[in-house]
Amino acid sequence: MAGAGLRLVRIGEFAWARFEPRAGVYELDWLDEVIGILAAQGLDVIVGTPTAAPPAWLIERNPEILPVRADGRVQQFGHRRHYCPSSPAMRDATERIVGVLADRFGGDERVVAWQIDNELGGRCYCDACCGAFHAWLRERYGSLDVLNDAWGTSFWSQVYDDWGQIPLPEGAPVPLPHGFLRNSPNPGLALDFRRFSSDSLIGFLRLQAGILRERCSPQQRITHNLMGFHFPEIDYRRLAEELDVVSWDNYPVLDFTGRWSTKALAGDAMRGLKNAPVWVLEQQVGPLGWELLRTPRRGETRIWTFQAIAHGAEAVCYFRWRTARFGTEQHWHGVLDASGRVGRRYEEVRAIAAELELLRERLAGARPQADVALLHDYDARFALQVQPTNPALAYEETVQQHYESLRRLGLGVDVVSPGSDLSQYRVVAAPGLLVMDDATAAALTGYVEAGGTLVLAPRTAIKDRSNATPERPLPAWLDELAGLEVVDYASLPEDSSARLAGAGGASFAGEVHGWYEDVELRGGRATATYVDGAFPGAPAVVEHSVGAGRCVYLAGVASASTLQALYRRLCNDVGLRLLELPEGVEAVPMAANGGDLLMLLNHGDGEVTLDLGAGALTLEPLGVALVDAPSATGSGSD
Ligand code: GAL
Ligand code: ZN
Repeated sequence: MAGAGLRLVRIGEFAWARFEPRAGVYELDWLDEVIGILAAQGLDVIVGTPTAAPPAWLIERNPEILPVRADGRVQQFGHRRHYCPSSPAMRDATERIVGVLADRFGGDERVVAWQIDNELGGRCYCDACCGAFHAWLRERYGSLDVLNDAWGTSFWSQVYDDWGQIPLPEGAPVPLPHGFLRNSPNPGLALDFRRFSSDSLIGFLRLQAGILRERCSPQQRITHNLMGFHFPEIDYRRLAEELDVVSWDNYPVLDFTGRWSTKALAGDAMRGLKNAPVWVLEQQVGPLGWELLRTPRRGETRIWTFQAIAHGAEAVCYFRWRTARFGTEQHWHGVLDASGRVGRRYEEVRAIAAELELLRERLAGARPQADVALLHDYDARFALQVQPTNPALAYEETVQQHYESLRRLGLGVDVVSPGSDLSQYRVVAAPGLLVMDDATAAALTGYVEAGGTLVLAPRTAIKDRSNATPERPLPAWLDELAGLEVVDYASLPEDSSARLAGAGGASFAGEVHGWYEDVELRGGRATATYVDGAFPGAPAVVEHSVGAGRCVYLAGVASASTLQALYRRLCNDVGLRLLELPEGVEAVPMAANGGDLLMLLNHGDGEVTLDLGAGALTLEPLGVALVDAPSATGSGSD
């Protein structure tokens, strides 16, 4: 490892049965020895708490630890994540093992950080969770009257007069042959259950973080490995509050669409959780899969590493070191093959580490720079999981389309949450912001009044925080800001589209599909209208000047090229410098001590030549370049 230039190693994250082979019998000398071997080579260590894999003896003693899945089935021992985060027996056992680890290594300078558990996730439907859900609701609503009112339980006679009567919602909506869904429970109940499930995992993490903070040196940082932007079950913004540093795991080939924007968005979203540098604790380094197997392109490890750094990673750990000879992950290739011999991937890693060493000074303190923000809200995601409404509205894809259109213009994008300070951004995109409240509406209004450009998209502000429909025209809370009222909508098959044309002197051409809305102007002006489709002639893009800024409402689900055309115009209006990038090329603006930089990444299979104003630059397939930002003087490149 040291020979390859590596400096940081994560270990132990599933090793409970080795740490505690029998109840109360601890064997940590081997871990100490391993840490010693690594430290002797100058490698820092992150120790994982092993709670993602409770051992067989614990499950045998307390089978109620096993979680119940949405279909009522008990998940059996034999995989991992087979525990309920509310289970008292699991929590007791967790306190003991984490306490023992903390006491042994909490003052150990060779250990620089703790990773709590591993990739938290899963919703449990057991009796303990049901009881915990009731307590959670009591805390949130205070009284059943308030809850009954918020959820509208008089509908279908669901009024509760005892907390114990409240059921768990059935699982995710199940598709029926004609395309509709069934199982939809009360939307308020279903949204709250998703929040509760998220909170119960966060609570389980907090239990461990509390022990580590109490017993370990503050030099040891506390982290957890998250699963990027697309993981939909946990409110990562709230989870991140429990951590010193956010980490995430990056497996690009698991995204079968192969888009570079998936990893880029993940990087920006993870950085945005704490608005601080992150660690990638698992970076794909080779072929992977469990039952199946997928291979990356040769050379992709390098571009993924640089991409992660460009988006704010200050550490990248490859997963895994040596390919496992046994267990579920035999296909998940490490830096070394199962043989343990040095080979091509080792050389690749060594070359990357050497290259980074050369760039050390240049990249020191470099961080991604953004004039544009994308607002991301977990409540909106959860609400849309309850009522997906139309496939064209899918939250993750919607956000990614907006993100990608902005990034294709060469813009850096921060991914922020409601409540973040927006004042530094020239443009804020808030697509799919379904759930609204007074405070968020006031913050968005304040942002526009102060001179910002806010972009809203269909289905904005259609629900309150308890998933009830507000008694106000849509987009509720924001109708005055948007200068319009949604009066009708077309919810159609995804390929059913309507063309857009510029209006009121604005030139524009584009297209919406699947879902688009009929809006009436209330102070705003149409800058594009529908040419055909369900509402020909009606406004499709509405701009409303408010204070020193403007609110832009896009009334339909737009294609990537339409979004790009819209953002190109809006960003030009506010004077942002844009780049026109060839397909497959990503540019990440970075601010660094020595001046602004641009990281250029060619994710495509062909060579590309770019002209950034300071002469042509050629990037080989999967090539990376770090250049001075075009606005800065000088044009050196590495
Ligand atoms: C990650 C996980 C690792 C390993 C890897 C390959 O999701 O954190 O422990 O399992 O996937 O399956
Ligand atoms: Zn449970």
